[in-house]
Amino acid sequence: MGKCHSIIACMLMVFLVFFTGCKATSDVTPVEAEEVIEEDLIVVGFSQIGSESAWRTANTKSIQNALSKENGFFLQFSNARQKQENQIKAIRRFISQQVDYIVFSPITENGWTTVLEEARSAEIPVIVVDREIAVADSTLYTAWIGSDTVWEGEQAGQWLERDLIVHGKEDDEINIVILEGTEGSSAQLGRTEGFKKYLRKHENWNVLASESGDFTTAKGKEVMQKYLKLYDDIDVVVSQNDDMTFGAIEALKEAGVYLGPYDGIRVISYDGGKKALELVEQSIIDVDVECNAEQGEYVRDIILDLEQGKVVENKIYVPDKVFTIGNVGQYLDSRTY
Ligand code: AHR
Repeated sequence: MGKCHSIIACMLMVFLVFFTGCKATSDVTPVEAEEVIEEDLIVVGFSQIGSESAWRTANTKSIQNALSKENGFFLQFSNARQKQENQIKAIRRFISQQVDYIVFSPITENGWTTVLEEARSAEIPVIVVDREIAVADSTLYTAWIGSDTVWEGEQAGQWLERDLIVHGKEDDEINIVILEGTEGSSAQLGRTEGFKKYLRKHENWNVLASESGDFTTAKGKEVMQKYLKLYDDIDVVVSQNDDMTFGAIEALKEAGVYLGPYDGIRVISYDGGKKALELVEQSIIDVDVECNAEQGEYVRDIILDLEQGKVVENKIYVPDKVFTIGNVGQYLDSRTY
């Protein structure tokens, strides 16, 4: 049995003995604590943002599957229900439980320095997944794994640029509405920044409106309904995730807008979930820039490397693709989420 894990397990036991009945320990049963000791499991606390999207659910599953007991882990999962304060509380609870590793997907970029300093004082390595954090000292976390969201935004801009050329519309006035993700999240900031590079390049691209739909279908629909009341000349809808896109499509259909092959309106989405790829195949979504949700195995490998005392990379980008009618057929069947 590894020395470190036995100490953690013993602490969990002590914690349970002294605090049985307290809310903080309700997620670790005596049986589980015993299992941690006997099977020398690596204890990981994982704070997930919430379950706002199909992508998020797939990301949670990927991490749960990779950090399973069969793989030698004991995972404490905490759902922050879209609140940064809940994430900070969960991280503090993991620190007080002296877990071996803390993994978290930060809802927004800012506001993490203090709690990460606390984790560092407790000598617990922190692995950030999916979204990025803005901290002056990058050694406050051991590694970050996720997508290059600026690249994603650029891919959307590049696709639109080419599509307009193909249709001989490159000099037309193009009216764009944008549904942004959760304000201050790196996914919203990065995708906005990447797409802006193309907006700056094309003076004839006009952004009529850009507002947050919080990465949810309900909010996406609400914002799109508002846009449809305000503008009757929308050429392009840019929606920063698939769930908002589903809501926007509902709103467009209810407003009698035809979507499909040879329609006038262009729909640009992000994530590349199965349901969205089916809509790409039907030409309802014109392009979907992937944000790879399968990050669990990367997290597992980093932890296993750290267990062996290896130095790991501070930033690891997962590969992403761009799906259009031209290539979606090759990916649909194997898509798992
Ligand atoms: O941070 C990744 C984004 O968050 C995904 O695009 C979105 O679906 C999720 O909720």
